[in-house]
Amino acid sequence: MRALVKVEAARGLTMRQEPAPVPGPDDVIVKVKKTGICGTDVHIYKWDEWAQKTIPVPMIVGHEYAGEIVEVGSHVKNLAVGMRVSGEGHVVGTKSRAVRAGHFHLDPETQGIGVNIPGAFADYVRIPAFNVVPLPDDIDDELGAILDPLGNAVHTALSFNLIGEDVIVTGAGPIGIMAAAIARHVGARHVVITDVNPTRLALAGRVADITPVNITEEDLKSVMARLKMAEGFDVGLEMSGQEAAFQQMTDHMVMGGRIAFLGIPSRPFVVDWAKLVFKVLTIKCIYGREMFETWYKMLAMLQSGLNVRPVITHRLRAEDYVDGFETMIRGESGKIVLEW
Ligand SMILES: NC(=O)c1ccc[n+]([C@@H]2O[C@H](COP(=O)([O-])OP(=O)(O)OC[C@H]3O[C@@H](n4cnc5c(N)ncnc54)[C@H](O)[C@@H]3O)[C@@H](O)[C@H]2O)c1
Repeated sequence: MRALVKVEAARGLTMRQEPAPVPGPDDVIVKVKKTGICGTDVHIYKWDEWAQKTIPVPMIVGHEYAGEIVEVGSHVKNLAVGMRVSGEGHVVGTKSRAVRAGHFHLDPETQGIGVNIPGAFADYVRIPAFNVVPLPDDIDDELGAILDPLGNAVHTALSFNLIGEDVIVTGAGPIGIMAAAIARHVGARHVVITDVNPTRLALAGRVADITPVNITEEDLKSVMARLKMAEGFDVGLEMSGQEAAFQQMTDHMVMGGRIAFLGIPSRPFVVDWAKLVFKVLTIKCIYGREMFETWYKMLAMLQSGLNVRPVITHRLRAEDYVDGFETMIRGESGKIVLEW
């Protein structure tokens, strides 16, 4: 089969032939139809410090996918050949306290598809049956391929009650834009999204009825005045991983404000904890999706009018992956979907 492989410890990826996977008793094999390129894949492509520490080579990459089950393992029940599916990219164990309490997303032994175990940028991928999420008929493969990052956005955005609240999202990458769209969908009052990249902010404005702010041109005080907001933002969703963005956010939160932090800073940074304490802020860190409550909520919201499709800006053949990765690196895209 065709597969996109990190062949050696250097920049880039290689499309090459690999043996097709064989299912274990508790696995299914999925014929991959569409995949999304994630920022994690870009780290692996660029072979940055994180990737060098994390990714064994060779490794088939990719973890955002939708496709069709073509084979099921001998123990698998309730799934069948021909079902359209996506699935959770974090594969959990059975031993930890968290898993045994049913908190699967908190398992310290989590392995990532396309990170620690063979991934979905291939004609076929092997997935534990537990991880499979069947796709309803009204969720097509293209949307199915971006449910993983949409799940990050859903998990973050639904961490706090947003009804009637003023929300700030820092970082208008694909996940930030989708989180802002969710905040609007579930009934926030004002949803402000900041970035430094005008292309991304223009995309944000096209995806949902939100207020994009180029933080290099307008400060948040004047945005608050424009929106007639007296005290500050009630909820913050950090989606950039940037120190400056977090500081701007904390400077403009209300007393008792709540922040959900998804962004991954590339290096440690100093935080003015005294300021946070005197503002009585709550900060919740987010990793991945809740299994499987986030998946349930996300499918339900897509079926009740949440429209994130405009965040997909590029649809490419899998063979044109280099184009896709380089466009992402230049910051000129929303989600990029590869067709297999
Ligand atoms: N915790 C998790 O499980 C998880 C999962 C996926 C992604 N992430 C992280 O979430 C973040 C969002 O993911 P993404 O794919 O949308 O990332 P992305 O890199 O595409 O988007 C980040 C955006 O932040 C913007 N930005 C840079 N400086 C800024 C500033 N000072 N103020 C506001 N915005 C600024 C960038 O221009 C970019 O558009 C990333 O940090 C990513 O690493 C975390």
